[in-house]
Amino acid sequence: MGENIVLMSKRELEKMRRVGRLAAKLLAHLGKMVKPGITTYELNEEAERWTRAHGARSAPLGYGNPPFPASICTSVNEVICHGIPSKDQVLKEGDIINIDVTPVLDGYHGDTSKTFFVGTPSPTAKKLVEVTRECLYRGIRAVKPGARIGDIGAAIQEYAESHGFSVVRTFVGHGIGRVFHAPPQIPHYGKRGTGRILRPGMVFTIEPMINEGTWEAEIAEDGWTAYTKDRKLSAQFEHTVAVTEDGVEILTLNDDEDPNVILQR
Ligand code: MF3
Ligand code: CO
Ligand code: CO
Repeated sequence: MGENIVLMSKRELEKMRRVGRLAAKLLAHLGKMVKPGITTYELNEEAERWTRAHGARSAPLGYGNPPFPASICTSVNEVICHGIPSKDQVLKEGDIINIDVTPVLDGYHGDTSKTFFVGTPSPTAKKLVEVTRECLYRGIRAVKPGARIGDIGAAIQEYAESHGFSVVRTFVGHGIGRVFHAPPQIPHYGKRGTGRILRPGMVFTIEPMINEGTWEAEIAEDGWTAYTKDRKLSAQFEHTVAVTEDGVEILTLNDDEDPNVILQR
């Protein structure tokens, strides 16, 4: 049988809403700093400062083995995910950068990420990023009680591949709450009608990583940084969502995102 999936109470969901809003605000704040000339180290420093100033802590710092050495992930161009901020990494015109934040407030995690343009993107980068954002939205639209986990991945995979892009297999969405990475796994590929049935109170992330070329990943010597095998571009967007009685609630919604636009079926 499947692993135990936590169903959240109203009280717990309220805590997830609070940390979700905080995560979205942090991500928007960091996004405004993205410009040619800034280092990923400076983004990380500001993330840590802002998170503490808001009474939260950064889940990534010290997470896993080897312990992740920073407060956010900054994944530039051919980095799929888990990029480590560095003083040596200066953003330049035309780069794309995914910033992934996970503050913890009152014991609950809010996990969200977005890919930003540094200056003006190439047509390919622009297309990849737009398709990846729509992949996330289509994945979210597949969420409702009675649907299955495979419905989410199928919606994402069909859209990505119809644009000639590929879906990363190595990393998946995940249950989240008191724990950063909990069951169930949410693959961003798959078959409709397969996998666990979604129930009200389930809370998980959807975080498609979509590649320009091959879906295959390669992990660097540092134990974290994941590159595309062919060193072509990769983009990612992530939201934390809750299954409700009649559909889905996006817990990490940004001010510039209209839920009615995202959720229209
Ligand atoms: N935030 C990432 C995710 O979406 C996980 C980062 S793990 C870290 O699941 F240690 F690199 F922070
Ligand atoms: Co996540
Ligand atoms: Co994340």
